[in-house]
Amino acid sequence: MPHLLMCPPRFFAVEYEINPWMDVAINADHALAAQQWQTLYDLIVATGAKVELLEPVAGLPDLVFTANAALICRNTALLSRFRHPQRQRETPFDRQWFVANGFECLDPPAGFSFEGAGDALFCGDTLFAGYRQRSDAAGHQKIGALLDVRVLPVELVSSSFYHLDTCFCPLSASESIWYPPAFDSYGQRAIELAVETLIEVDLGEAKHFACNAVVLDKTVITNRGCDKLHGQLQQRGYRPIATPLGEFLKAGGSAKCLTLRLDCEDAASW
Ligand code: ARG
Repeated sequence: MPHLLMCPPRFFAVEYEINPWMDVAINADHALAAQQWQTLYDLIVATGAKVELLEPVAGLPDLVFTANAALICRNTALLSRFRHPQRQRETPFDRQWFVANGFECLDPPAGFSFEGAGDALFCGDTLFAGYRQRSDAAGHQKIGALLDVRVLPVELVSSSFYHLDTCFCPLSASESIWYPPAFDSYGQRAIELAVETLIEVDLGEAKHFACNAVVLDKTVITNRGCDKLHGQLQQRGYRPIATPLGEFLKAGGSAKCLTLRLDCEDAASW
């Protein structure tokens, strides 16, 4: 049974600007955000998955994006070290939860930023790791050694696609959704060589966070506005579900960012 961590959006808001999607003049509609989050939660639970809840904290509006709490590998939670001070205060609350729930907590290598499952995603036995915007390349190599996994660092070249999970979404050990222009040509080649089947999304759907999907076996949940991707997924035997997450896009996040898989992801082979 898939096992995930989410955090209710009680204190969610756009209170600062740390990515191009955020504009403090365009705050999220709180009631609508709560409704969108609840619908996502209900869809996930309806697949049979188990969802744990992290207690929201006043003054930490981005704590809802639990994908950034840590990278999970077996029983280890490799905690984040956020690039921006605005999010650095989240880590003690993340650590508290993982310790209380029996995970072995590790910190990223000293001196390097690392934003958890937002920037590090397993596809098969390889950990694809995005760097430049939020996480550091040299840190990723050390993380590979720390977790004893093969790491493929890929540079994220567009500020709009600042986390790997905004432009790359493993579906299975050999399949991934992606938005190629978010990577440089070297990264594109590396991904093409490493992943057997790649499902490409266009800019319009990438901007609707098509790559930011929650994958639960054959169910793939995304924001609305990703119809072309959903058609491709259906052809490949997946069951795509669209749910409105517009209020969270105002903070630069969507379905996947609002979740953290605590057990082994479908695409990971560890
Ligand atoms: N406002 C948050 C930030 O910029 C959004 C995080 C989205 N999370 C993700 N995994 N892409 O850090």
